[in-house]
Amino acid sequence: MLAERLSWGPMASLAQRAHVRVRGLEIDSEGIIPDAFEAACLKERPKALYCNPTDHNPTTAVMSETRRRELIDIARRHSVLIIEDDTLGRLVSDAPPPLAAMAPDVVWYIMGLTKCLAHGLRMAYVVAPSATEMESVFGPARRLSFWAPAALSAAIATYWIEQGTAEAICAAIRDESRERVQLARRILDGADLAATSEALHVWLRLDASRDRHDFVASLERQGVLVRPSDLFAVDGDPPENAVRLSLSSPPSRAEVECGLRTVASTLGLVSSS
Ligand SMILES: Cc1ncc(COP(=O)(O)O)c(C=O)c1O
Repeated sequence: MLAERLSWGPMASLAQRAHVRVRGLEIDSEGIIPDAFEAACLKERPKALYCNPTDHNPTTAVMSETRRRELIDIARRHSVLIIEDDTLGRLVSDAPPPLAAMAPDVVWYIMGLTKCLAHGLRMAYVVAPSATEMESVFGPARRLSFWAPAALSAAIATYWIEQGTAEAICAAIRDESRERVQLARRILDGADLAATSEALHVWLRLDASRDRHDFVASLERQGVLVRPSDLFAVDGDPPENAVRLSLSSPPSRAEVECGLRTVASTLGLVSSS
């Protein structure tokens, strides 16, 4: 399986447990670089591409519609299935349509409710390219009761979606995220920061002279936990010199501000009021 060379942390270990070999693809500010995907298709003969085209975790990249079409074209020509993880997609109001909407024949679409609605529901939705393919993957597990979603969660999610409550909660999360991203842009002014305007996290690139592990350790001593790029690397290639700052983990905006000020002072940025 191919994936962005930096990806959602647990993916690589889940793949390893499933005996799936993962190869990382080069990414830029739009996510996967088409030439890198095509070259890997020719060299590695992958069965699938796992990707996160909207608000990529961790770099926050949003793939343009043109880039999406290029990837779909390559996937079709090389018979590679795309597994689209759209966990953060609902939070980006101006994102292009999901890959699955453009090419339902080659895309498995996954979206969980954790980010856009509520952590505690533990619900996600999967759309397969066809009913037959869905049956081939999920059919054998149907009789295992632990594979079924908790009925109460499913009932709440359905009710909220149908009543419009889900959209209202999602909009409130977007509003709060927008405030937090603005806070990060203001406090970390002068740093090399990547963020969508409604991101739950931001990606902070560090100068080559700064050791990210020392930076992470220094912040930890000051009570601020951030993740170095290494935790997102899907294979052995050395990742870029960067850290991910979560803006959504701290419950209050004041705590986010406090953490960001610690990051700014550790970076040696002149603090803005
Ligand atoms: C890209 C991506 N996929 C999947 C997940 C897991 O989502 P959940 O907590 O709903 O299992 C996350 C969580 O951070 C994520 O960022």
